[in-house]
Amino acid sequence: MQTHVPIKVTAHDQLCLERVPDRAASFVLFGASGDLAHRKLIPAIFNLYRAGLLPKSFFLLGTGRSPWTDEIFRHRVEKTLGLDAKRDKNEIQNFLHLIYYTPCEYTKRESYLPLKEALERHCRHYGSAANVIIYLSIPPSLYEAVLENLILNGLITASASDTPNSRVVVEKPFGRDFDSAKRLADPARTGLSEKQIFRIDHYLGKETVQNILMFRFANLIFEPVWNRQYVDHVQITAAETLGVEHRAGYYESAGVLRDMFQNHMMELLSLVAMEPPLRFDSTHYRDEKAKVLQAIRPFPEKGLDDYFVRGQYGKGKIAGISVSAYREEELVRPDSEIETFAALRLFVDNPRWQGVPFYLRSGKRMAQHLTEIIIHFRALPYSVFQSVAAENIPHNHLCLRIQPEEGIRILFNAKHPGPKMCMATLGLEFDYGTVFQEKDLNAYERLILDCMNGDSTLFVRQDMVEISWALMESLLKPVRDGKGPALHLYPAGSWGPREAEALITKDGRAWGE
Ligand code: BG6
Repeated sequence: MQTHVPIKVTAHDQLCLERVPDRAASFVLFGASGDLAHRKLIPAIFNLYRAGLLPKSFFLLGTGRSPWTDEIFRHRVEKTLGLDAKRDKNEIQNFLHLIYYTPCEYTKRESYLPLKEALERHCRHYGSAANVIIYLSIPPSLYEAVLENLILNGLITASASDTPNSRVVVEKPFGRDFDSAKRLADPARTGLSEKQIFRIDHYLGKETVQNILMFRFANLIFEPVWNRQYVDHVQITAAETLGVEHRAGYYESAGVLRDMFQNHMMELLSLVAMEPPLRFDSTHYRDEKAKVLQAIRPFPEKGLDDYFVRGQYGKGKIAGISVSAYREEELVRPDSEIETFAALRLFVDNPRWQGVPFYLRSGKRMAQHLTEIIIHFRALPYSVFQSVAAENIPHNHLCLRIQPEEGIRILFNAKHPGPKMCMATLGLEFDYGTVFQEKDLNAYERLILDCMNGDSTLFVRQDMVEISWALMESLLKPVRDGKGPALHLYPAGSWGPREAEALITKDGRAWGE
């Protein structure tokens, strides 16, 4: 008989690594009237302000195509922040004194002059000219034009220094293929050094993603079994119940490989498979992550179906409510061949992981909203319990739950109480929300804070971007050439196409715990 009994753990005192930025900072937000700015970025900056984590001298200069004034912008921000009734009205008012707005037509060179004038004026007032952060919360198609104009107009100055005066923050996607990603970062074109570009993958700011590193390398007991000798296979799932929403325009030219695998999925894989870095700093940590991606065995041209499954959602039900098929969504072509789901079976060819399969899957309109990593351990080599064969004893496994219900769960076997020698499989659980009482873990707070500190550890380095694109290209090209795996439809609200089940079951394994 098997039962699952959660056991509570207590959090010990935390060893805190947080640093309040000591340099005055100027924060220029492109796309300040946009959705991301108001949903995530401005609330994150406000939370840093409340927590006393902004530098003593700080201002935010918003810019965008909307012809707003300082007053209109402040009014919008006040409304945005006021949506959360728990926020203190006085704190909001004080924060509004630190924010300004100057409009800009992104593709018009002359439009940058008033912006430059405003930036210089505020920098003089706040004494923050030596630390300018330019955050591009704009469509990726505008990156090149905006960067060019920022440089031509002297809003960013190229610098090879370790502490450059100006830095640019860009959101994924970093290009749409290997060549465009390379072009975007080419110092000969942009004039910017790697130290000046902060590429955000918001997964790296998630508490639970950062915790993978602490869990692995701040404990003695897990690392010795974290290898091919003890691990049977690893699963990484990022499932969403949402569909493509209002982003079909972008998604039709992206698909799940570009949208989720090139970045978030590869980041999760590298964190779970990396060697311990010498130190947790931007060089050593990112070196080790890049090595994992370099070690991924190239996908074969023939028999790619054994490694790569593509799916697209058809109509179905999510939480009992009927939803449309992808091809019926607004702005989606009725014959679209874009994948909204993919599953990969891959190998990391290095001494630690040789022969251990990694199964990755991600999709939209799936049965559950769930991001998790499961480490499945091998079977016991021998059973001392004569009546139960070793292969029938449930394997241990460890689940790192990234979202929702962030936490960690370890399954182990124990004796079920009673006169008979019965075995039970128990779950040892740690739940972030319960232990730390954290309800709103905002990835952007951490990332913006690090950027102000000039710490690029949790940002994506260009080599990682390129290796990952090369890997995605090896999957996307056969599809483009009509030689790749077929696209399988799956009903919305399911776990993807049947072929994704087959990808793992033919190895004698199954998805999930
Ligand atoms: C984004 C993708 O990067 O990540 C979206 O573009 C996806 O398509 C989102 O929905 C998922 O992020 P999260 O934090 O909700 O898992």
